[in-house]
Amino acid sequence: MTIEQELSNGVPAKLIVEHVSKWFRTRRTSVQALDNVSLQVREGEFVCLVGPSGCGKSTLLSIIAGLEMPESGDVLADGKPVTGPGRDRMVMFQESALFPWLDVLGNVLFGLKLKPNLTTQERREVAEFYLKLVGLEKSLHANIHELSGGMKQRVALARALAPNPRVLLMDEPFSALDPLIRSKLQDELLILQKKLQKTILFVSHDLDEAMKLGNRIAIMEGGRIVQIGTAEDIILHPANAYVAEFVAHMNPLQVLRGASLMRPANDLTRDGDSILLDAAGRLRLHLDAENRPLSAQIDGKAGRLATIDRETGRFDAATTDIVIAPLDVRLKAAIELRRASGHPIVLVDQLGRLAGLCGDEEIYRGLLRDL
Ligand SMILES: Nc1ncnc2c1ncn2[C@@H]1O[C@H](COP(=O)(O)OP(=O)(O)O)[C@@H](O)[C@H]1O
Ligand SMILES: [Mg+2]
Repeated sequence: MTIEQELSNGVPAKLIVEHVSKWFRTRRTSVQALDNVSLQVREGEFVCLVGPSGCGKSTLLSIIAGLEMPESGDVLADGKPVTGPGRDRMVMFQESALFPWLDVLGNVLFGLKLKPNLTTQERREVAEFYLKLVGLEKSLHANIHELSGGMKQRVALARALAPNPRVLLMDEPFSALDPLIRSKLQDELLILQKKLQKTILFVSHDLDEAMKLGNRIAIMEGGRIVQIGTAEDIILHPANAYVAEFVAHMNPLQVLRGASLMRPANDLTRDGDSILLDAAGRLRLHLDAENRPLSAQIDGKAGRLATIDRETGRFDAATTDIVIAPLDVRLKAAIELRRASGHPIVLVDQLGRLAGLCGDEEIYRGLLRDL
């Protein structure tokens, strides 16, 4: 069993790429586009492939799509070898490649030709369902050339989704859009992904985009995957100097999380059944027998504890002195909570047990990535 499979906790790999190499040869030149690439994408996972132009991202995506064949190596989708394109793996490109002679609805219906078992009426319902999902229910009969770049990519997304593929392969789908529209479509894609639980492989040359979207990120250089991991793994433990340089200017605010920032509970000073939250011992946290925070004391007086709301990330600042947050709280949220409460943040694990503390020192170190 590979490490990847062990980490997957039994969730089967939807896509398996093993030792894939690919050359493009002409009579005079020969370019190696992929050099022994291996990658697994699990069911429901969102993986981003990032790297500079020419590093082989599109070639890898095309091979998984079945549009190109590898020179050597294997590609499996759902355990079956990929021998060509299939409606289980729909592709979306930077240029929407819509048919200008069909209207919006016509373009999505075209994608449904891959589903011959549907009646005309059913196809129409499916197409309208996906156009509604991407917010185009009012533009069913618009001409393609009337649409903005963002709307075109929405149509392309609806067209890719309509045959209900389990895998979406997206090659820089938002790269040609204005930054605002681009950011909006990224947000919408994340919401869609929550709803639809597709397996997504998304190519980008923009690290910020990849870090925002991907559960994991694969960084490519010269036809190889040089590192694959979560955004946090990559920022904190770059595999080599190339990756370190690549991520050097990445903003850590939305990437680093409590678990890597915090001072662990074991390193905090205990005094009987309480934990000191500051060096002077002015802030104390009392724990129950299971190590769950029970109450707090500030300068000898009772302090009010509150756990942030899981959904909104908020707490009632008027009635709270010390905030309790989950371990996966992001650096940006941790700073906001620290600022609003005026005290270090207590981090707890999934069972509500004290895991560590995030105060100014931890926040500064996170901002400086000195962890
Ligand atoms: N059809 C092709 N014929 C010849 N060379 C190609 C072809 N497609 C890609 N390449 C070369 O393969 C390498 C990888 O290209 P590509 O996968 O498109 O990179 P990326 O998508 O990361 O920009 C580049 O050097 C590119 O010039
Ligand atoms: Mg490309």
